[in-house]
Amino acid sequence: MASQDTMAKLVSLGKRRGFVFPASEIYGGLASCWDYGPLGVELKRNVKDAWWRSMVQERSDIVGLDSAILQSPKVWQTSGHVENFTDPLVDCKKCKGRFRADHLADLQCLEKPSKRPGECGGELTEPRSFNLMFKTFVGPVEDEASVTYLRPETAQGIFTNFVNVQTAARMKPPFGIAQIGKSFRNEITPGNYLFRTREFEQMEMEFFVPPEDWEKWYQEWCDIRLQWYKDLGVRPDRLRMRVHDENELAHYSNACSDVEYEFPFGWSELEGVASRTDFDLKRHSEASGKHLVYFDSQTREHYTPYVIEPAAGCDRATLAFLVDAYDEEELEKDTRVLLRLHPRLAPIKAAVLPLVKKEGMPERARNIEAALRKRLPCFYDQAGAIGKRYRRMDEVGTPLCITVDGQTAEDGTVTVRHRDSMEQVRVSEDQVVRYVVEHIEGEGD
Ligand code: GAP
Repeated sequence: MASQDTMAKLVSLGKRRGFVFPASEIYGGLASCWDYGPLGVELKRNVKDAWWRSMVQERSDIVGLDSAILQSPKVWQTSGHVENFTDPLVDCKKCKGRFRADHLADLQCLEKPSKRPGECGGELTEPRSFNLMFKTFVGPVEDEASVTYLRPETAQGIFTNFVNVQTAARMKPPFGIAQIGKSFRNEITPGNYLFRTREFEQMEMEFFVPPEDWEKWYQEWCDIRLQWYKDLGVRPDRLRMRVHDENELAHYSNACSDVEYEFPFGWSELEGVASRTDFDLKRHSEASGKHLVYFDSQTREHYTPYVIEPAAGCDRATLAFLVDAYDEEELEKDTRVLLRLHPRLAPIKAAVLPLVKKEGMPERARNIEAALRKRLPCFYDQAGAIGKRYRRMDEVGTPLCITVDGQTAEDGTVTVRHRDSMEQVRVSEDQVVRYVVEHIEGEGD
């Protein structure tokens, strides 16, 4: 497990180097809301791209969708979210804190943070159900008829579009519909940096299968999703699959397993792989009067497919990649801080550095930068000692540094330094773009 202070160091590095800033910071912030800075936005985009590539572009049986955040309130009434998407809440009559009744053992009293809620002598109220959906109004009149909700999951937009997508893309079960987008939950106890927030991005896929095949596909998706994190470099000993007990299952699910990561605060959910049965399609069919079914032309029968849903959190995955990549390496004279990010996730793929600001080195370096920029995100830096520039790039996870030095003018070669090993090799100036692209696309050392 990464050490407890890794999180504090990451929050500080994130702010200093432009990965993540507290939202509304100049006004004192808004609890558990975060803004992604220049490097954070690239990292998060890379996480989403890696997911989209593996789920949609590399498969012929999954297609994409981008549905609206605002949907008819009937969607949320029918899906069960208005009735069931609740957490049990208790209030402390003394310190006025409000806590999740099922998380009391992990929470702190507001007055005495060393104690658990209720241990300050305050009486806790009976648990009440608190709906996590953010309410809003559509149109200028704020009355009951105009109430709707910010979506708490992207999945429902997929279910309501099942027939649209299936017929437009001529898909046949087993097939999937994937979507990446923002979701909103009025969490009672958000926290742990990007882990639990009120506004977050999900990467969800609903895989529609013949009912008799659901168990096979459930297992298959558990395996595929665990492997995805490993393929992107997450240490296998910090990943595990946890099968849900029956009493943990959501109202729509008959089986569920979580991909968990060992965060500095303990093993926690990265993504869920749920069997949602035919619950959603059947409920929406009944409520809308539209037949959300598939016609099997071989058996000449209509049926409602079962659904297997791998549902990942983009911000949570980004946090796991950051925690896992963070390293402090003891060297002879000092400690090197680096992010050992997978090359595909690294926000900057290569830095181009002239050794000194003279002898034509900046010009040559700028030419390499211009050629490289057409292929990959890169960064030019000529300020300060070369050692310090390498360290700045290590700290943000840049896999390669290209240095134009005195030898470049003599033999047309540059130095390429590898982040993880610090190994340096000489590469011909006119081959260096190819070298970098091959290294990044060939996915590292
Ligand atoms: N459609 C199913 C669904 O939404 P979920 O387990 O509630 O299932 C899926 O959410 C994923 O979304 C979680 O595994 C997590 O990665 C992410 N997620 C959920 N709530 C979150 C929150 N408050 N902050 C950040 N990520 C969250």
